[in-house]
Amino acid sequence: PSRAFASSSLPQLNSVTEADLAHFASILPPSAILSTLRPSSTPASELEPFNNDWMNKYHGRSTTVLRPRSVQEVSAIVKHCNKRRIGVVPQGGNTGLVGGSVPVKDELVISLGNMSKIRSFDDVSGVLVADAGCILQSLSDFLIPHDHIVPLDLGSKGSCQIGGNVSTNAGGLRLLRYGSLHGSVLGLEVVLPDGIILDLLNNLRKDNTGYDLKQLFIGAEGTLGIVTGISILTAAAPHASNNVMLALPSFANVLPLYKEVKRQLSEILSAFEFIDRRAYDLAVKHGQGRALDDADVKGAECFVLVETSGSNREHDEQKLNKLLEDLMDAEPSLINTGVMATSPAQFSSLWAIREGLTEAMAKEGKPYKYDISVPLDKFQEVVDTTREHLRKKGLLHEGAVEHVVGYGHVGDGNLHLNVVAAAYTPEIEAALEPFVYELVGKYKGSISAEHGIGVMKTHALQYSKNAVSIEWMKRIKHLFDPNGIMNPGKVLEL
Ligand code: FAD
Ligand code: MLT
Ligand code: ZN
Repeated sequence: PSRAFASSSLPQLNSVTEADLAHFASILPPSAILSTLRPSSTPASELEPFNNDWMNKYHGRSTTVLRPRSVQEVSAIVKHCNKRRIGVVPQGGNTGLVGGSVPVKDELVISLGNMSKIRSFDDVSGVLVADAGCILQSLSDFLIPHDHIVPLDLGSKGSCQIGGNVSTNAGGLRLLRYGSLHGSVLGLEVVLPDGIILDLLNNLRKDNTGYDLKQLFIGAEGTLGIVTGISILTAAAPHASNNVMLALPSFANVLPLYKEVKRQLSEILSAFEFIDRRAYDLAVKHGQGRALDDADVKGAECFVLVETSGSNREHDEQKLNKLLEDLMDAEPSLINTGVMATSPAQFSSLWAIREGLTEAMAKEGKPYKYDISVPLDKFQEVVDTTREHLRKKGLLHEGAVEHVVGYGHVGDGNLHLNVVAAAYTPEIEAALEPFVYELVGKYKGSISAEHGIGVMKTHALQYSKNAVSIEWMKRIKHLFDPNGIMNPGKVLEL
């Protein structure tokens, strides 16, 4: 069930009316307005994709979705909403996993999908300037002939938008190599909650002229304004990429392995991703990637996917082969086996196992997703303790919680604890929360490493942020959005 928001906890906001719709019709063409209100009268089914999140866990009741094509149109819409106190939900690809991208009630949805132009690319500096609605995959495709890559890669790349990525400060599979968006985003264009356009769209690597305002919008989850344009530093495309799936006899080997892999691969290491055995089995069950041979999987408690990216294939392969030999020869060996990609198809297939985990969990059942930062040596403990806790509560059985699995970005200290249930129920949620958050608090971790707070974790912010920090977040929110129209009920409890 969606976390119910008492309507009294939302600011006094108004619903969209037919008169508002008439005003929007003076800003946008009819094709950019979806509304179940007259005179537009779109069938309700057309609004469903905008009202329900990717997991089908959070549900809004918006009557109206607007699809502006320019920053001026966004500005005019938001100005009107602010004057009329209409809540606004900025929506990108709607792949968010914390319920931030759908309304909690009947707020207006502003969908950025029609803003999908690449504004400029400089192949000397690598700076790409694009509209917020550009799909991540389309930016990657655009960069291929320019020999560059986006410094960000997510399993949702075919649907998520760069504006959504920036607004969630998405992490993903390349963070280990290229760092977070707080480093690679150079500039932003934002429509503030009063409709004013804040132009921070510079392309400078260095700019120490006081407060770096753009940082506030990176990870703000649409609560401070609508991101409409992004300037991002892209990276030179690696000319040699390789990957290997390592099967480990025990989780205890992951950390010594990470140390050894870093030591031997150093500058060519570009990903080190962890998958526990149960997660792997679900990926295979749901057809994500090609399963490894039985002999390679036998006795494996978990897997690590290592990727290298460099410029000299021979050199990189030599390094990777030497690493594998050393790992196999060590006494006792840190790994059971290693399956190295020998073709681009195998390279993609190994990645598909890792990238397909999210989808596998969703196909298997209803996943409760805890995206947490904890010390690396606690990854397995967190998964096992949670499973044991659910067992003691009598909830670990068919028809209730069916799987407790872990996977994630070891290099970033980010564990994805997934509790897959037959249904979302208040009983399971009560068993998991605050249990998981207390566990994270105990290890001084973060309750959200990369997915954000959305509507799912507003009540748990205090496990990762102290009272003074939360107070200042509230003050900042109020300063930008005194009427509380911008993505109400998200990030901060109201
Ligand atoms: P949405 O889901 O539409 O929105 C997310 C939030 O950003 C909402 O609060 C919304 O209001 C706000 N927002 C969206 N666009 C704008 C805008 N232009 N201006 C202001 N606010 C805006 N996340 C990771 O961090 N790492 C991963 O590896 C990863 N893998 C994923 C794999 C799969 C299969 C799926 C389904 C999700 C994954 N995610 C991952 C989560 C999600 O894809 C990311 O959070 C992504 O950045 C969201 O982008 P989006 O365009 O879909 O945003
Ligand atoms: C991932 O790393 O696969 C993503 O963050 C999505 C998820 O947690 O399932
Ligand atoms: Zn992730």
